[in-house]
Amino acid sequence: MKDAEHHHHHVRDTFGSSFGVLVALAGSAVGLGNLWRFPYLVGENGGAAFILIYIAFVCLLGIPVMLSEFIIGRRSQSNARGAFRRLAPGSHWGVAGILAVVCCILILSFYSVVGGWGVEYLLRALRFDFTSGGSSDLSSFFTTFTASTWKPLVCHTAFMLASALIVVFGVKNGIEKFSKVMMPVLFVIMIGLAVRSLTLPDAGAGITYLFRPDWSKVTSDTVLAALGQAFFSLSLGSGMVITYGSYVSKKANILSLSAQTALADTLFALIAGCAIMPAVFAFGISPGEGPGLVFITLPHIFSNLPFGGAIAILFFLALLLAALTSSISLLEVIVTFCIEEFKLKRKTAVALTAFVLWVLGCLCSLSLGVLGDWRIFGKTVFDLFDYVSANVLMLIGGLLVVLFVGWKMDRKAIHDELSNSGSLHVPEWFIGLLTFLVRYLAPAAILAIMVFQWIS
Ligand code: PHE
Repeated sequence: MKDAEHHHHHVRDTFGSSFGVLVALAGSAVGLGNLWRFPYLVGENGGAAFILIYIAFVCLLGIPVMLSEFIIGRRSQSNARGAFRRLAPGSHWGVAGILAVVCCILILSFYSVVGGWGVEYLLRALRFDFTSGGSSDLSSFFTTFTASTWKPLVCHTAFMLASALIVVFGVKNGIEKFSKVMMPVLFVIMIGLAVRSLTLPDAGAGITYLFRPDWSKVTSDTVLAALGQAFFSLSLGSGMVITYGSYVSKKANILSLSAQTALADTLFALIAGCAIMPAVFAFGISPGEGPGLVFITLPHIFSNLPFGGAIAILFFLALLLAALTSSISLLEVIVTFCIEEFKLKRKTAVALTAFVLWVLGCLCSLSLGVLGDWRIFGKTVFDLFDYVSANVLMLIGGLLVVLFVGWKMDRKAIHDELSNSGSLHVPEWFIGLLTFLVRYLAPAAILAIMVFQWIS
């Protein structure tokens, strides 16, 4: 065996420590989904009721899907496609892995564009540009900037290059090292921003909005939005947990890692909510602004806040760090796939992937401006990628993963992964509950919500 490994021309990378795994997983989960998407979805869907449904989905569907992906990844020690093929040789399950890779390609294309906006806004904050200018200026700035041709492309290029530069160093020396430093920084900044916001004179209305549910606002759209957001925010159905899981040591406890990741992600979403909503209410702005919320509303608030200039810098720095620790995970799914399925060197795989994604990202960016008339199914490229990934591919990916673990995979292999071949004690009732969630509840719920979405 040892000899065989020596003859292999590449030895698989691994994470260095379980803290490293946790920050890498949390780094992937915590991203624009928490700081940009979650606050505006909460605002559009009426606040606390949405949050409670979201949390229920994270626990009942998110954790079982994440654990299933973990089981597939760590068992197979292989990329998203290779994992299915190794565990079910001679079957068509590899297609599930290909779908996951396609999903990451679509997400990263527009993610890098929004990350680029983060770069521009951080630079503006550093020039103290938000301390002047009213909210209508800020809104027209956002629209003009995102629709223009060159500047967003330059920012998108910088963001993609930064992501590629981290991933080229590999899992342990690139992704893990970066996340270990940046996640604590991100946490401290976000706590600081939340404290600042919660101590504003009129913070009460924002807190009520976040924590007192108004069930009359709940519609079927709220339920769909909550499920889509749970999957997007936890990076599920995209092969991320399969890929990172394949680099996790056989001694790590994947059960507690899954629970901790889900907890950290939810905590970050709530902290982001606490940093944003009280300020929105204190300044009498409508929370239902939509996707422009953090790019239009927040700069307006910063311009009126004591020390607003410094707060703006911290906020957009946080946004950029959160986006980077997620974009590197999206890139890694595709890169690991290319390395193993096409036998490429990491450097070649990173260069190739980053280039193709850079081109796709350019299309996304331009589709908000000069290419705006080019519609596919009535959507711009940007909106199409966003819609197809979060509302279709991630859900199908999650469904296939639970079906695979629930109905196809060998029971003993699953039990071995959960208990680390018997060295961890996993109670019977827990296995029973998990089996029920993975076999019946999660597939039925995901399918029902998807079908409902398509017929309505
Ligand atoms: N979870 C990330 C976010 O919230 C997005 C993401 C999705 C990252 C899928 C990796 C895979 O921003």
